[in-house]
Amino acid sequence: MSDYRLQALARLARLAPGLVLKTDPADLEHYGRDWTRRWTPAPLAVALPASVEDVQAVLRWACADGVAVVPSGGRTGLSGGAVAAKGELVLSLERMNRALDFDPVDRLLTVQAGMPLEAVQRTAADHGLLYPVDFAARGSCAIGGNIATNAGGIRVIRYGNTREWVAGLKVVTAQGEVLELNRGLVKNASGYDLRHLFIGSEGTLGVIVEATLRLTDPPPPSQVMLLAVPELDALMRVFGAFRSHLRLQAFEFLNDRGATHVVAHGAQPPFAEVSPYYVVTEFDAASDDDQNAALAVFEQCLEQGWVSDGVIAQSQAQAAALWRLREGITEALAPRKPYKNDISVRISAIPAFMHAMQDLFERDYPGFDVVWFGHIGDGNLHINVLAPDGMAQDAFIARCEQVTKALSEALVRVGGSISAEHGIGLVKKPYLSGTRSDAEIALMRAVRAALDPAGILNPGKLFD
Ligand code: FAD
Ligand code: MLT
Ligand code: ZN
Repeated sequence: MSDYRLQALARLARLAPGLVLKTDPADLEHYGRDWTRRWTPAPLAVALPASVEDVQAVLRWACADGVAVVPSGGRTGLSGGAVAAKGELVLSLERMNRALDFDPVDRLLTVQAGMPLEAVQRTAADHGLLYPVDFAARGSCAIGGNIATNAGGIRVIRYGNTREWVAGLKVVTAQGEVLELNRGLVKNASGYDLRHLFIGSEGTLGVIVEATLRLTDPPPPSQVMLLAVPELDALMRVFGAFRSHLRLQAFEFLNDRGATHVVAHGAQPPFAEVSPYYVVTEFDAASDDDQNAALAVFEQCLEQGWVSDGVIAQSQAQAAALWRLREGITEALAPRKPYKNDISVRISAIPAFMHAMQDLFERDYPGFDVVWFGHIGDGNLHINVLAPDGMAQDAFIARCEQVTKALSEALVRVGGSISAEHGIGLVKKPYLSGTRSDAEIALMRAVRAALDPAGILNPGKLFD
């Protein structure tokens, strides 16, 4: 490290004595990457603040010394947003992980941004309430990261994305100023709602240090059902039937390749017969009427030939085993470094779009292992492609980038999005202009320049 950099870090340590600063190679490696594993971590150092004042001191120092800062939560991100590969300072909120306040009348929980999602869910449950955003990275991701990516997950169909649950935010701007946005109000018509600018901003506009979250009633008892679906077109027909007759909490799908990988990773095989597609759905089942309605809609789908088999979990353990088939995919594929797509289209456009994608992928990825899964009830498909044995990673990525260009063009035609819930980060930056118009991108740049004139916050992410 150059003398200048060393002196700058020494100055930072003096400015914020509460800060933990790490420069060990193992720490730089650990904090410099997210789940993408595509870039070699190379941060300058890692700063772990214990207070809002520490965060202010770090950002003021970074502005003065022209050091780029990468805000960092649990680094479970899938878009490279938390990657520090160019000598940035990683600002990890990991030590700021406490609940600060709960108000039972307002049903608001205020937490520090480094609190893991699962701890937020548990704290809400301790108060007899629900924080409903949920997905497989719950144990490792942090609420600040969830807000910065507007995370979705498996319950969006019932509860919406993270955005719906943020009633207030405390943010430190690039210049070290503290903004308290909306303060938990239900109604607030006093001009622009700046809170929403920071939700989904991927660490480029400010550092989220605290969040006030809305909580809700826990859902009624539910049942989990696994369905075997014989063909693509049937997926949305089954969705339509289940949505009309039941109160859905989740409606997720995976293809047989997804099931094969998860089963190889320890999950229970779904059925005796392999099916091209599977659906994992969860719905309210408080009464016998609800359960009868579920059986009736299943039988209707069976008669129509839309499903070929099905099973309802009879216990919590069975429900967890069914969910594992869907939720275990990311971890099962991770060692193969899949190329990930996270696209969305309107729900009505899903059937035609899936056919178009199937044609595109069969043409451009002959013989490749293509895993489809995702939140099909939200119009959100995850299409993961695995490199054939022996194909070099660089050649594989280059091939995938070409196909993603075609995918992005197809999305333009249907008005879809190149990122439904993972964010643009580094991985989808070349395709942003397929989803957002030039005018929108110019405004986004102007907002970024207004909030961070020195350009220290997560430079190179979202756009250059
Ligand atoms: P990080 O990866 O640390 O950061 C993500 C982005 O947010 C970066 O740009 C970072 O700079 C910024 N950031 C982090 N903290 C702050 C802060 N305090 N202030 C400002 N900016 C900040 N995502 C979904 O949406 N739905 C899913 O179903 C889903 N399932 C997943 C399952 C698995 C197994 C894995 C590994 C990931 C999954 N993800 C999913 C992706 C990921 O978990 C989410 O994007 C999550 O919200 C990221 O949170 P994090 O704390 O890990 O953020
Ligand atoms: C999921 O839905 O499981 C996540 O978004 C993770 C992924 O896409 O791998
Ligand atoms: Zn997802």
